[in-house]
Amino acid sequence: MPGIVIIGTQWGDEGKGKATDQLGERVDYVVRYSGGNNAGHTVVVGDEKYALHLLPSAILNPNCVPVIGNGVVVDLSVLFEEIDALLARGIAADRVLISANAHIITPYHQVIDKVSERFLGKRKIGTTGRGVGPAYADKVNRVGIRIQDLFDESILRQKVTAALEQKNALLVKVYNRPAISAEEVSNTLLSFADRVRPMVVDAGVILNDALDAGKVVLFEGAQAHHLDVDFGTYPYVTSSNPIAAGACTGSGVGPTRIDRVIGIAKAYTTRVGEGPFPGELLDETGEALRQAGAEFGTTTGRPRRCGWFDALVVEQAARTNALTDVFLTKLDVLTGWEKIPVIVAYDVEGVRHTRMPMTQTELHHAVPVYEFLDGWTEDITKARAFEELPATTQTYVKRLEELIGVRISGIGVGPGREETVMIHDLL
Ligand code: GDP
Ligand code: IMO
Ligand code: MG
Repeated sequence: MPGIVIIGTQWGDEGKGKATDQLGERVDYVVRYSGGNNAGHTVVVGDEKYALHLLPSAILNPNCVPVIGNGVVVDLSVLFEEIDALLARGIAADRVLISANAHIITPYHQVIDKVSERFLGKRKIGTTGRGVGPAYADKVNRVGIRIQDLFDESILRQKVTAALEQKNALLVKVYNRPAISAEEVSNTLLSFADRVRPMVVDAGVILNDALDAGKVVLFEGAQAHHLDVDFGTYPYVTSSNPIAAGACTGSGVGPTRIDRVIGIAKAYTTRVGEGPFPGELLDETGEALRQAGAEFGTTTGRPRRCGWFDALVVEQAARTNALTDVFLTKLDVLTGWEKIPVIVAYDVEGVRHTRMPMTQTELHHAVPVYEFLDGWTEDITKARAFEELPATTQTYVKRLEELIGVRISGIGVGPGREETVMIHDLL
């Protein structure tokens, strides 16, 4: 089973980091293929807690080769901060390999991310402010800076100057901000060149060779299906393709090399930033879920918006990504409720939808239809086999499985590596 993709099925923060780290013990390569340091993946190993943003989560496993694919946007100062912080904790994070084609998040991308959000006012996206969207915009607009440009000083300076020409006009005339110096930006980027050089590879060659040799390659998604620029709740999305198909375009392997696609689904739903969220609970129930699940962003610290499990949301992800397995996380957080509501349909102005509606307008008018399942009060954090879960917990899991149409192969019952119930082997 050599090519495996992990994706988020909701709006991010499903616990992809923990799942990746856990599988990382048994994989040879782990690849980030989209997004940048907008991601925040928390991994708990014993008493140690790690918050990873740009580096693949399985970096914590010494036998696994971490790779940053061409589909990722790299902020070099964040990259080295993260590497240095891990080195200080005894983790050889400087062994990460980076695609020569990955694009760079420059200081001007961060400035533009922040000023354009401010300019949007109440129509803002609620981005992480890390410059991710503007870096992808430049990539598609063919004025991006790639990692390989760091090794040709004159090309780099030309490209930065060209990229800043239009942006400075916009910054000064529209946003009323000072112009950014191409020389300063170029010098900053070039200051990273020597350190990054030994890490830079043709990632596509390395990964295809690894797959040819029967190695296990795990593609670690960041963000999630409903934040995908094509399939998410556009325009309230991120600017890349976190879906499983992005693993191919973002790393240089073909679709036939992917054998398994694992969707990570939280046992309830959360979202950070703006955008439609039909099941959002704005009352004390939402607050109770937030507290019970410690739902505060790993990257920005923002409180996450909370709601019950929405089967339509996960079903769309299951369908579009051809999921082979679902890993259900944070089931322990639901302990103690007498009844657990689950969204099984939407009512859109009198019309019942059992799949996510086609248009943004319909989604904005969607009213959730709930089914109420029995809860449980027993502590489930010590369970390690499905049979050890209370009967009502088992029924909850089975009902979700039925609604989303994909088998649930693993269940998270706590943040720790070992706090997992495996039902079907994932490798
Ligand atoms: P990611 O972005 O998908 O990797 O998820 P985050 O790391 O941003 O958020 C998930 C949070 O839930 C982290 O703090 C994890 O340590 C924690 N977590 C993951 N799985 C479980 C679980 O099964 N139970 C509990 N209680 N916490 C979990
Ligand atoms: P992980 O990998 C949750 C959200 C932001 C915002 C939108 C666009 O930890 O699941 P961006 O900065 O990407 O342009 O912001 O996407 N967002 C995330 N929400 N988890 C993430 O990553 C996210 N990455 C981006 O909050 O709504
Ligand atoms: Mg996260």
